[in-house]
Amino acid sequence: MSQVTEYSDKVMDHFMNPRNVGEIENASGVGTVGNAKCGDIMRMYLDIDENGVVREAKFKTFGCGAAVATSSMATELVRGKTVQEALSVTNQAVMEALDGLPKVKIHCSLLAEEAIHAALWDYAEKNHLTIDGLKPPVNDIDETEAFYEMER
Ligand code: FES
Repeated sequence: MSQVTEYSDKVMDHFMNPRNVGEIENASGVGTVGNAKCGDIMRMYLDIDENGVVREAKFKTFGCGAAVATSSMATELVRGKTVQEALSVTNQAVMEALDGLPKVKIHCSLLAEEAIHAALWDYAEKNHLTIDGLKPPVNDIDETEAFYEMER
């Protein structure tokens, strides 16, 4: 992806009109993650049917515009996917769907990815399931972020 320095139209759209904001009562899985650096918090709710397909995804956040936009897009991307497929909704996939994010905002998109993972983990635990490739959730994405920075 080429270097992006400002918000794309898609990012602005999802920031101004975020999709799927709210809570799901009796959600199949709920995940909350935070970023100690900026203090932002994200909570993701997933409703998963008996076939392991994500029926609905909603989120709430105390986060910046990029966190709102990435979560909004992430909830759109996981809907209709199996829990296994939902794992492939990485921050990279979300950023691509949004036509990129400025580099300084990439960490914000990790909040969405980690919140989905945490919600999937909660679902798996409640149902005594194993989801291949799913790692235990992190409470604070700071460490993951450091890892991503090393990778780049
Ligand atoms: Fe904290 Fe964006 S600045 S999530």
